[in-house]
Amino acid sequence: HVEAVVFDLDGVITDTAYYHYLAWGKIAEELDIPFNPSVNENLKGVSRQESLRIILDHGGKEDKFSKNEMEKLARQKNEYYKEMIQELTPEDVLPGIMELITEIKNENIPLGVASASKNAPTVLRALEIDHLFEYCADASRMKRSKPDPEIFLTVCEALEARPGHSIGIEDARVGIEAIKKAGMYAVGVGKNLEEADLTWKSTEYLSWTSIKNRFLTKNSMA
Ligand code: BG6
Ligand code: MG
Repeated sequence: HVEAVVFDLDGVITDTAYYHYLAWGKIAEELDIPFNPSVNENLKGVSRQESLRIILDHGGKEDKFSKNEMEKLARQKNEYYKEMIQELTPEDVLPGIMELITEIKNENIPLGVASASKNAPTVLRALEIDHLFEYCADASRMKRSKPDPEIFLTVCEALEARPGHSIGIEDARVGIEAIKKAGMYAVGVGKNLEEADLTWKSTEYLSWTSIKNRFLTKNSMA
């Protein structure tokens, strides 16, 4: 029996990972730092301040800015990002996700969101799916970023689910690591996620029946 399913948001439920990428791209350009999808891979799942540090580090400018200036840059990135997500509508839920959510809900399994994004509640509302989740972690209250398991453990606890009996779904390497450290079953969506228990190329292939069967087989052998 599956006690909870915990979703990452950006890059799993909707393609806001792309907007984060565009917004950081603008900041990088303003700072004259080269930026490309491969640098962006390291930003997935990582908090706003930590992402900025990674970008500055990549440009060799890690010690060029004061704490205040860094806060200003992070705020500016968020302004760009917020402008981009104003366009979000229910159509922006990635293919396969609504079906997956519906199948899980049909079995009365509680659903949670474990997103590092402070914009997560806004995004869920814009997609009109906020009411489908019993709990969404408050990113501003997390002390440690993924790959620390804190956020996944917090969501499991709020859903009264045992991590060992729960499933996490992620598109980021650090996210998969966090799920595994929490002792949960990790489902990866996308590339370079070898550490997941099960991976799918993209959300449209996600199948609740196969996820559940693989999870139950693994747990019965454990
Ligand atoms: C994560 C994204 O979900 O949230 C990261 O994968 C992002 O790219 C992080 O930096 C923090 O988001 P926000 O909206 O609080 O800046
Ligand atoms: Mg993500």
